[in-house]
Amino acid sequence: MAAPVTPVQERADRFLVDVNAGYQAHYRVNSEAQWLADTDVTPAHDAAAEVAGKAYAAFNGSPALITEARELLAHRAELDPVTVRQLEHVLLNAAEGPMTNPDLVAARVAAETQQASTLNSFEFKLHGKPITVNEIDDLLQTSTDLAERRAVWEASKESGPALKPGLVKLQKLRNGVAQELGHHDYFALQMAAYGMTTDEMVRLNDEFMRVLRPLYLQLHTWTKYELAKRYGQPVPKLIPAHWIANRWAQEWPGLVAPADLSPYFKDKSAEWVATTAEQFFVSLGLPPLPATFWTKSDLYPVPAGDPRKKNTHGSCWHIDLENDIRSLQSIEPNAQWFQTAHHEFGHGHYFIAYTRPEVPPLLRGSANPGFHEGIAEISGFASSQVPYLQMVGVLPADFKADETAFLLNDALINCVPFIFWASGTMTHWEADVYAKNLPPDQWNARWWQYVRDFQGIEPPAPRGEEWCDAATKTHINDTPCYYPNYAFATILKFQLNDYIAKKILHQPPQRCNYAGNKEVGAFLKRIMEKGATEDWRKVLRDATGEDLSTRAMVEYFKPLQAWLQAQNKGRPIGWVSYPLSDG
Ligand code: ASP
Ligand code: SER
Ligand code: ZN
Repeated sequence: MAAPVTPVQERADRFLVDVNAGYQAHYRVNSEAQWLADTDVTPAHDAAAEVAGKAYAAFNGSPALITEARELLAHRAELDPVTVRQLEHVLLNAAEGPMTNPDLVAARVAAETQQASTLNSFEFKLHGKPITVNEIDDLLQTSTDLAERRAVWEASKESGPALKPGLVKLQKLRNGVAQELGHHDYFALQMAAYGMTTDEMVRLNDEFMRVLRPLYLQLHTWTKYELAKRYGQPVPKLIPAHWIANRWAQEWPGLVAPADLSPYFKDKSAEWVATTAEQFFVSLGLPPLPATFWTKSDLYPVPAGDPRKKNTHGSCWHIDLENDIRSLQSIEPNAQWFQTAHHEFGHGHYFIAYTRPEVPPLLRGSANPGFHEGIAEISGFASSQVPYLQMVGVLPADFKADETAFLLNDALINCVPFIFWASGTMTHWEADVYAKNLPPDQWNARWWQYVRDFQGIEPPAPRGEEWCDAATKTHINDTPCYYPNYAFATILKFQLNDYIAKKILHQPPQRCNYAGNKEVGAFLKRIMEKGATEDWRKVLRDATGEDLSTRAMVEYFKPLQAWLQAQNKGRPIGWVSYPLSDG
């Protein structure tokens, strides 16, 4: 027999009907305005985004709403769990713009809008001439001329000084809004979505690095020898940042010739990349992206000569928390965008799965934000597997993959250096800036301390406080304290892949093909369709039978560790400082 509905539950039900409706309506208006501002940076669009941002906060952060949610949560034992989760989300949303302090919220919204505008309209220049971000990335992937590489890398850091003043303001304003509702700081507010404190999240990330450190040190050593040979240089202890093909050394592509996919994209178009990515999800039995996705998205680079400025970093948007789903990308036919397209469309299919009456708008998100990234990441990861690449015609059908080369490339581009960037540099730096109020005159020194200590990378020449190299990373500006989600997602994707490969596909985790398998689709759908209605630990355990664990990732790369050790025999491993205990 169903439990009788308590008076508190009835009161909560009435409250949440109104809040869900208002939330969804304001969410739509705000996303629409932010979308315009991100895809076409103009003063008019910035102004509209600021107004919409304020209206969004005025609803979500209204004192009446905060009071009622708190009063109801004081009786949580009399409420059903989904109600409790909705009320908690009401308070998390309110904490982003608490109208108990309207001046503070207005200042934050204005500063966020300005920062996004500066970020998205920044014009990079190489030797005085404009250069696009895709061109920067292409040069870093192809040039073997160290002087040119250094010039390109330095050009990519020019946005930092333009962004620093805004970030200095935002450090205070973001902490201020979070503190208004009793969170210690803005980092702590973001971790509340996990039910974790800042310290717990930092410790979790340190644990990821502790476990993966032996593998990373082997990869780092192999890479520094490889690159020293490529550039005709003595082998360094720390790898110079401009030697790596990624602006932040967050992934290390282009190091493994037999796994280099660039020749195979020569006859592909950007449109082919997008439609192939969508076909992947449809082949799993998931419903297609809505027709409006294809008319409203902004998937390709701004054509040369067109003065429009847009955000060049991939993203996917659930505009109305219903069927208006859009993606913002600058897809070109190459391996990197192929994977990014699968990643972004993964977010899109997650939106579709939880858009159903059983999931109220307040809970149309993932179990924690890392789950959204995890599903996106596993899609990107599946798209880089050899059998899939053969099936879609990137690699020829008779392609004989060098398995070690692909596994090595996998480690380098998909995850191992990435963990030391995500769990190390990004997480620690933002925790310092927000939780410990790191003074702005120490920002660049702290940044490079972490890049050196965690990643084993150094700048080509000392970088003083006139630079703000952290701010050259998109997320530092427009998605603050979000990066632990990518580290979580990386660990999660190996757990999900392990389950899919072993229990559903009966294929080796390192060489499996999800495409066309409806059971894989059903497995992912069961996770996605819950939205945020259940605790993430339960969702993970129900899906895989396991708690969060690096086990699957470590097992995946076991064969590589031995190979690397043989390659690196007799070579000095690592660098001097490393901030984690060896315990
Ligand atoms: N692919 C991008 C990244 O992960 C944006 C996203 O998360 O969708 O930063
Ligand atoms: N998409 C995220 C980034 O670009 C994580 O890979 O940083
Ligand atoms: Zn993502």
